[in-house]
Amino acid sequence: MSAKIISGTETAKAIKEELKKEVAELADKVVPGLVTILVGEDPASQSYVAAKNKTAHALGIHSEQVTLDAETSEEDLLALVEKYNNDDKIHGILVQLPLPKHIDEAKILNAINPDKDVDGFHPVNVGRMVLGEQCFLPCTPHGVLELLQRSGVETSGAEVVVVGRSNIVGKPVANLMLQKRDAGNATVTLCHTRTKDMDFHTKRADILIVAAGVANMIKADQVKEGVVVIDVGVNRIGVTESGKAKLAGDVEFESVKEKAAAITPVPGGVGPMTITMLMKNTVQSAKQFAGLA
Ligand code: GUN
Repeated sequence: MSAKIISGTETAKAIKEELKKEVAELADKVVPGLVTILVGEDPASQSYVAAKNKTAHALGIHSEQVTLDAETSEEDLLALVEKYNNDDKIHGILVQLPLPKHIDEAKILNAINPDKDVDGFHPVNVGRMVLGEQCFLPCTPHGVLELLQRSGVETSGAEVVVVGRSNIVGKPVANLMLQKRDAGNATVTLCHTRTKDMDFHTKRADILIVAAGVANMIKADQVKEGVVVIDVGVNRIGVTESGKAKLAGDVEFESVKEKAAAITPVPGGVGPMTITMLMKNTVQSAKQFAGLA
């Protein structure tokens, strides 16, 4: 059996069409505005931020990009966040992570107005998410849920195994999938670096979500026949002949796709969904500020 390929590129395209229409319809009331703030020159972060701005522009969202040098002080970054908290044209503030070591990430995320926190990283939004209340959902977990739902994958009652316990992906996706909600109601196991017998868990997964940040970590002998695999990993493993970064997921795609019922590729899987959910949150925020939602 060869797996159905779950295309994030195609699913994201459909959602972006919906958003573009919505932005056009909102135009005489509010123009959604997003600012991305990048500190330093990490190449992966640079390419993510560029992709976010390009997508915003294509959808008619007003987008500003601020790039600061790696030596920027915590104080200056806090002042910049505060400036955008008070800017009426801006409905979404995104500070790209990771930040340089001398800056306290939690302090910066705490400083963002929760109503403009389109990343869903502010403790207020994390708390609301865990309680199942209305909030901005973090973009990658939200993208994973949308991808499962729009691909017709049944999550209710499914054994979902998540590998990786980051605040950005592992913890929130595990939490969302156990909730009473669309693409939820699953029985969730979260594995991490201290898990005693990883294979025991991955082999019994109906849906396996991998966000470990280790290239090709999950092999075919670690999954069961018919599993649905969502690969969140984006690992740079070299450069292509044209000089572009060569990417690999956390799952060994070629071998695992022979056993899986469905699998997301890297690139073209979860990545495009993350950016699209950021746009969705930004449009939602603009509507809330305009009293339209
Ligand atoms: N770094 C990696 N993923 C993300 C993300 O979704 N948002 C931000 N702000 N930084 C990231």
